Parts: sequence; structure tokens; C-alpha cells
Amino acid sequence: MSAARTLLVTGGAGFMGSHFVRHHLARHPRDRVVVLDALTYAATLESLREPLSDPARFEFVHGNVRSPQVVDSLVARADVVVHFAAETHVPRSISDSLMFVETDVLGTQNLASAVVRHRDRVERFVHVSTSEVYGSAEGDVMDEEHPLRPMTPYAAAKCGADRLVYSFARTYDAPAVILRPFNNYGPRQHLEKLVPRLATSALLGEPLTVHGEGTATRDWIHVEDTCRALGALLEAPLARVRGEVFNAGTGVATSVRDVARRILALTGRGEHDVRHTPERPGQVSEQRASVKKSVQQLGFEARRSLDEGLAETVAWYRANRDWWERLRWMRAVPVTGSDGEVTYW
Ligand SMILES: NC(=O)c1ccc[n+]([C@@H]2O[C@H](COP(=O)([O-])OP(=O)(O)OC[C@H]3O[C@@H](n4cnc5c(N)ncnc54)[C@H](O)[C@@H]3O)[C@@H](O)[C@H]2O)c1
Repeated sequence: MSAARTLLVTGGAGFMGSHFVRHHLARHPRDRVVVLDALTYAATLESLREPLSDPARFEFVHGNVRSPQVVDSLVARADVVVHFAAETHVPRSISDSLMFVETDVLGTQNLASAVVRHRDRVERFVHVSTSEVYGSAEGDVMDEEHPLRPMTPYAAAKCGADRLVYSFARTYDAPAVILRPFNNYGPRQHLEKLVPRLATSALLGEPLTVHGEGTATRDWIHVEDTCRALGALLEAPLARVRGEVFNAGTGVATSVRDVARRILALTGRGEHDVRHTPERPGQVSEQRASVKKSVQQLGFEARRSLDEGLAETVAWYRANRDWWERLRWMRAVPVTGSDGEVTYW
């Protein structure tokens, strides 16, 4: 059995971070997790209820990833750092990009600098990037060498963070590795994101709102599969992964329209209950991961099919209305265009 480790998880009260915390604690009984989270509108402490009930193995710190003092003191006692904390919603970044640069770029710079200062203690720094840094696919599948052409302020901020972490691995020999997950979905995701927005609309008997024709395709990966990819990254020999980038995807692309149809079928709704709105600016038209590198070098392969994952996710939203009812009003974000007109994305 490996030695007991302390993991610092930033953004651990968000969707993916909280799944990862529960996933990791369940599989590594000797490890401790410290979550640093600013508890923005996107966080749900409720998602950490189980870990919070075990103070010997879990600690929650309410703080900002941009705070040098807080971050330094936490990194000083971490063996592993997993960095999720970010502003994550594309339409919000179109409406106001400042917070995205502050949190996603400057927050990452602050954290990565602390990792370098505490290199003697920190064994590994996993930066959770995103497939959005690639922009639209140039060919059929996107491998890790695909050009980076971020198309929205969110994607550009994440791209800056991604390359900053890469540079810290090269310049300072930081024990850093970058994961680029494709589109994640699963239980406990904020209602502003596509799958929960569609699932809750379907459960409420409303038409499902799809931007444009819904022909944009994405590689949808269940959040538990992404947690397994992170687990594989933590266990891989450092020499193999230092400064490397790995995709976390399924290798299967599905259009937004098709996801909407599957959700309608799962909720017993008519297949035409879809309302189309104008296309969102900066929309990426196609994304599908090449999974070759993560299969060959990490032994990671996504297990859950989209049908299976969507059925589980819709069932969770059906059974947990208390969790999401308070978020209903946040499903669409008002964005003011250059002409002053407000559109809800
Ligand atoms: N959801 C996806 O489909 C997806 C796909 C690929 C990559 N990612 C990346 O994965 C990470 C997690 O995504 P998510 O969907 O769980 O996001 P989320 O929005 O659900 O959670 C983000 C968390 O970060 C916290 N946070 C925000 N600003 C902070 C700050 N300044 N200091 C400390 N904490 C702060 C929030 O309170 C929240 O708990 C992000 O880095 C995102 O870019 C997400």
C-alpha cells in the first residue's frame, strides 16, 4: 500500500472537484484531502456532506486560490495538488471576462508558484485544463498536439493557465501534469450547464432550449470516468507524465440535438419538444478526443456509455429536486451584446 498522502484539492466544492474528492477518499483510505474553495455561486457544500462528516480525513478551507498567504500555507503541507478551481461557464465569460482571467489565469499562477516553492514536499501537481483550449476540431479526432485556438474568453483564460503550468514544468521542473477533460456531465452539476439544464427542463415539462440547430458535437464523458483518469494520472510514474498533457474523453462525438433527443426519450417526452434559439457566439462546432495517448500511457479508458450515463444522470435529477430547485433561475445567463440587446444563453 502506498504511503499516506495529503491532497490539496482546489475548487473541491464544485461539480467535478466534489466528485473527485469522494472518489479519491473512497479508494485511498489512508489519504487526507484538504479542499480550498471560495464558495462562489457554482459551489455546493452539500456535495461534500460525506467527507465533511470525517474530519480526520477531510478539511474544508474557505478561501481564494488567488490569495498568496492561504495558498502558500496549504501547499506547504500537501503531497499532491489537484487544481479544479476556476470560473467555468462560457456565457458568463462572454458577459464579463475579468473574473475568468483573475481566477483561471492568476489563480493558477499563484498556485503553481507555491508548488515550485514547496517542490521538496509536493510530489505532483495536476492541473485540470479543458478540451475548450483546442477550439473546433481541424480533423476527425483531436489529439494532444492539436493546435490551441480557444474561441471564448473562458477557453482563452483556461488556455493561458494550461500553458503557464506547462512552462512551470519546463522552467522550474515543477512536478506538473495537465489533464484536458472533454465535456463532463453527471449528478450534481450546476443547472447552467447543458445536460442538467436540458434534464431539468424535461422533468419540468418545459421545451428543451437548444442554441442554433444543435448540430455542434461534443465528446461527452461521465464525471466518474474523469475521476478515474485523474486517479491514473496520480499513480503513473512522474518521469512518464511530468510536463505532459493528456486528454480525458471517450472518443465518441454526439451532437447537442442528439443529447436533447435522448433526454426527451428518457423522460417520456415527445421528440419534438425542442425550442431553438440563435447560435451562441464563439460556439465550437466539433470536438472528439483522441484517446490513444491516455490509453497507451495511463491505461485509462472511459467505461460509461452516453446512454448509461444520461439515464443515471436524469434519474438523479428526478430524485433530487430539493438539490436543484433553488438553482432554477440560474439556468440562463443574460448577456448584453454590443448593440445593447440582452440575450439569454
Ligand atoms: N464541466 C466540464 O465539462 C469541464 C470540462 C473540462 C474541464 N473542466 C474544468 O474542470 C474544473 C472544474 O469544473 P467544474 O465543472 O467542476 O466547475 P464548477 O464551476 O462546478 O466548480 C468550480 C469550483 O471552483 C470554485 N472557485 C471558483 N473561483 C474560485 C477561487 N477564486 N478560489 C477558490 N475556488 C474557486 C467554485 O466555488 C466552485 O466550487 C475547471 O477548471 C474547469 O475549467 C470542466
